[in-house]
Amino acid sequence: MKIAMVGSGYVGLVSGACFADFGHDVVCIDKDEKKIAALENGVMPIYEPGLDALVETNVKAGRLSFTTDLAEGIDGADAIFIAVGTPSRRGDGHADLTFVYAVAKEIGATLRNDAVVVTKSTVPVGTGDEVERILADAKLDVRTAVVSNPEFLREGAAIGDFKRPDRIVIGTDDEFGRDVMSEVYRPLYLNQSPILFTSRRSAELIKYAANAFLATKITFINEMADLCEKVGANVQDVSRGIGMDNRIGAKFLHAGPGYGGSCFPKDTLALLKTAEDYESPTRIVEAVVKVNDSRKRAMGRKVLDALGGADKARGKKVALLGLTFKPNTDDMRDSPAIAVAQTLTDAGVEVAAFDPEGMEQARPLMPEVTMVDGPYEAIEGADAVAIVTEWDAFRALDLKRIKDLAKAPVLVDLRNIYDPQDVRDAGFTYASIGRG
Ligand SMILES: NC(=O)c1ccc[n+]([C@@H]2O[C@H](COP(=O)([O-])OP(=O)(O)OC[C@H]3O[C@@H](n4cnc5c(N)ncnc54)[C@H](O)[C@@H]3O)[C@@H](O)[C@H]2O)c1
Repeated sequence: MKIAMVGSGYVGLVSGACFADFGHDVVCIDKDEKKIAALENGVMPIYEPGLDALVETNVKAGRLSFTTDLAEGIDGADAIFIAVGTPSRRGDGHADLTFVYAVAKEIGATLRNDAVVVTKSTVPVGTGDEVERILADAKLDVRTAVVSNPEFLREGAAIGDFKRPDRIVIGTDDEFGRDVMSEVYRPLYLNQSPILFTSRRSAELIKYAANAFLATKITFINEMADLCEKVGANVQDVSRGIGMDNRIGAKFLHAGPGYGGSCFPKDTLALLKTAEDYESPTRIVEAVVKVNDSRKRAMGRKVLDALGGADKARGKKVALLGLTFKPNTDDMRDSPAIAVAQTLTDAGVEVAAFDPEGMEQARPLMPEVTMVDGPYEAIEGADAVAIVTEWDAFRALDLKRIKDLAKAPVLVDLRNIYDPQDVRDAGFTYASIGRG
């Protein structure tokens, strides 16, 4: 099969490289010339474990190539995936579909062979209908079908998720679309990954419903954590206790500073907008969005409390460890660290931060924060240390060294990666999430 992947960001690049690894002939297309030039030189535009080796192997094998020229890239392709960004539209939170429709128009203007056009980007219900209309307006004399194939990979574990997915969702009522997509995913089908065929609209909604549900689970346990602190319970025990129930499941029950990242915040907002447009309110998701938004600054206030309160914090110094929205990525989109840092600097606190991969992306988002080269550099002279992202590198910090370097032995662990007793035994004042 020949596959064209339009948009070579997290999803397009990982999907393209994995499809090539399955033996398909893949061209990754992007309008960002710098990105394509870097990829042609073997330089990855993102940090994703294992991606550089996967790309290198498949480029060498002649199965993976890159171009900025869409017409050339889609020439002869059996399936053309649209994997461009769908950020929140400024002002109203709707998914901004400008990039998706621009690509659909370009495909309409240049397509010369039968092909299935697949939206892999996360798009609201009805987007596939509009893409179909755009292609119909182009009056092509080739056969096309528009299919929805949402992507569920997680940054940081993207290759494993793509190659061993819990399920593959394919939304189409078109026989041609179904046949081509079955061939595209045949290597995974043989791996016994379940493929769920649905209508296009159902597939589009499945992606939003999945993300909203996961965001709800996280927000639920975060509120339970707050309650644990008040009643003197331990959220990790509560989480284990409910997660062992198969009807609930243990995943996404880790209390923390609130969800962030490139998907949950924008996708929950977009779902709310769809619900509003169709006059079918989703009150639970509305509450989740509100609770999560206020939680991020509340985490900043938790750090201020550890400094003795907002009124005593001015002029003090905090070391922030971890900035990305989760470990093993350099993605800073909607990371809780942004609100935590902002709350601190608003209160006149000096902030020094370190992240193993995210500092380049973080710098423009936190101009008042000093970026340093390592955790201990950040800790030097600090009145408190706050762990915001649970990178492995922060799981076994040298507590004695921290005590020597810091002005005060205060640790705020927003990811619960330390044992409270161990840290207190080491002479620290310790605050964590939901361990009252
Ligand atoms: N990042 C994730 O973990 C993840 C997971 C599942 C789904 N998604 C969804 O996948 C989509 C892509 O997300 P992402 O994180 O990969 O985005 P991204 O911003 O990393 O990449 C998008 C790429 O598309 C390119 N692009 C935009 N317009 C183009 C055009 N006209 N022609 C060619 N290239 C163009 C951009 O230059 C960019 O490189 C979004 O809808 C997102 O919600 C993302």
